[in-house]
Amino acid sequence: MTSAQLEKILTRHDHQSANVLAILQDIQASENYLPRKTLEEVSKRLQVPLTQIYHLATFYRTFSLTPRGRHLVTVCTGTACHVKGAASILNTLEREFEVAPGETTDDKEYTLETVNCLGSCALAPLVVIDNHYHGRMLGSRVLSLLRGEKDASEKS
Ligand code: FES
Repeated sequence: MTSAQLEKILTRHDHQSANVLAILQDIQASENYLPRKTLEEVSKRLQVPLTQIYHLATFYRTFSLTPRGRHLVTVCTGTACHVKGAASILNTLEREFEVAPGETTDDKEYTLETVNCLGSCALAPLVVIDNHYHGRMLGSRVLSLLRGEKDASEKS
């Protein structure tokens, strides 16, 4: 992120240290992760200890300290989803994208993650794509949804 881009975000939040969480959210939305250099700059500019910023950055699942793809695909591997076929979905995605959970595809299109129960077990097996929940999934349906997302983003 450039200094000018960061300045825009800081200005939007009145350069207030009380708004640091919202500032981190804006950086995450812009970059798909929180670059270390940008966090150091935020710390300096708002006079908030870097340890406090890292505490927030690691506390909330929404933040990532490593680069993420444009689309975040989270497969629930909790007990209910496991029983209903989560492992098969995960295998399909790992094979298709040649990544393991926690990794991002080389083209920076997808990041694959797993989670242990999202509290919607009645929808098992559950997959979350960019914060949208998709219940009773199959690997092939997840791939169709992702292809649809990709086509839509290529057209816009
Ligand atoms: S185990 Fe997947 S939502 Fe609960």
